[in-house]
Amino acid sequence: MRTRESKSPLPILFAGADVRARDITLLSSISLSIASGPPTALIGPNGAGKTTFLKAAMGLIATSGGGITWGGNARPPPAGLAIVFQRPVMLRRSCAGNVRYALAAAGVPTRERERRTTELLSLVGLESLATRPARRLSGGEQQRLALARALARDPTVLFLDEPTASLDPGATKAIEEIVRAVSQRGVKVVMATHDLGEARRLAGEIVLLHQGIVIESGPASAFFSEPATDAGKRFIAGELLT
Ligand SMILES: Nc1ncnc2c1ncn2[C@@H]1O[C@H](COP(=O)(O)OP(=O)(O)OP(=O)(O)O)[C@@H](O)[C@H]1O
Ligand SMILES: [Mg+2]
Repeated sequence: MRTRESKSPLPILFAGADVRARDITLLSSISLSIASGPPTALIGPNGAGKTTFLKAAMGLIATSGGGITWGGNARPPPAGLAIVFQRPVMLRRSCAGNVRYALAAAGVPTRERERRTTELLSLVGLESLATRPARRLSGGEQQRLALARALARDPTVLFLDEPTASLDPGATKAIEEIVRAVSQRGVKVVMATHDLGEARRLAGEIVLLHQGIVIESGPASAFFSEPATDAGKRFIAGELLT
């Protein structure tokens, strides 16, 4: 039996968090709470700070002011969080080999790995490609495999960075269905996207970032029907934020 961290990483609480790289401010005074529930979508133009926010929420980069806590702890529990980056790197192995590797890295005992590999490949619709070299997969298939690998960690929170960027509508729909299924199983999904349609379809909660600042955050329905800020209104209308 794998011992699960007893403490949940939720809520992830940003309390006036600043992130800097040398003298550049990447995130400025972020205060918000990420709790369990439907997906949270981080939206905002290129360079807004979405990827930086995800890395900070994963505990991969340090804050230089304020702080972030995970379920009240100063560090996230090691097994609780998983992330799929925008351009995931596939191991030079089969699809199943990539998932098996992720399961081994997550400490899943050998005797359970075959069953879990089959389960995860079927969850992402890749069971028929199990023996295919992962690097030969299409972009959409690689994204699905990357999702399966992240889920091998059995995370409480799954961070996704632009999971459907550069995918066609069919591949996008496949990813969105997986995100919905994963969310319905109780995994908290936090996804960066500049696709407003995707945020509208999936998110329960919206965080609008611009120039490293949270412009607006709250329930998605309220944000899309009546954004509270002028920048929010302009972003929804497809105008450039400057
Ligand atoms: N280590 C770093 N050093 C200096 N600047 C950085 C560093 N990391 C990110 N930046 C800058 O911080 C800003 C925010 O970057 P980030 O990647 O978080 O944006 P983003 O919202 O994810 O953008 P995109 O939609 O293009 O992915 C950008 O202007 C980027 O160039
Ligand atoms: Mg990014």
